[in-house]
Amino acid sequence: MMLLTKSMLLPLIGLGAIIEKSENLRQNRLKVMDIFVADYPQGLEQGRYLAASLPNLPFVNGEFDLALCSHLLFLYSDLLSLEFHQQSIKELCRVAKEVRIFPLLTLARKESPFLAIVRENMNVLRLKSRIETVNYELQKGGNQMLRLLAFSS
Ligand SMILES: C[S@@+](CC[C@H](N)C(=O)[O-])C[C@H]1O[C@@H](n2cnc3c(N)ncnc32)[C@H](O)[C@@H]1O
Repeated sequence: MMLLTKSMLLPLIGLGAIIEKSENLRQNRLKVMDIFVADYPQGLEQGRYLAASLPNLPFVNGEFDLALCSHLLFLYSDLLSLEFHQQSIKELCRVAKEVRIFPLLTLARKESPFLAIVRENMNVLRLKSRIETVNYELQKGGNQMLRLLAFSS
């Protein structure tokens, strides 16, 4: 027989929650992949999927209402320079009326050192920047998103 105190049980309960959360994340990723794979052939035909590479996008000014950037900018702050971040974000703001970037952590789960600089730069460009907490997290603690909007919005 093994007797466990409450403090010994707590880490086990925590582990169960982590496993359940990982399984939910896995299911969510698989579901999203299925939706994408099912839509890809017709999306390609209709010109809804285009290959392009930041920091230059082949779109005219304000062509989109919303641009989403997930797990690229800020996450790879060790690999992608500040200049790349600034040019890419400026380009996203050029083609879309609103830009959302998620998450704001690096791979080491630290806030990106570029975040404050980019936000300062957005002030200069007369774009509003707002950090919002979202109901999703892939990296532990990575549940914040940067929203960029024109001052008039
Ligand atoms: C970690 S994955 C994230 C994929 C997806 N957005 C997500 O959140 O699951 C990073 C993605 O950034 C893309 N990528 C890398 N360099 C890029 C660039 N210069 N411009 C646009 N996308 C780029 C890669 O092709 C890859 O799909």
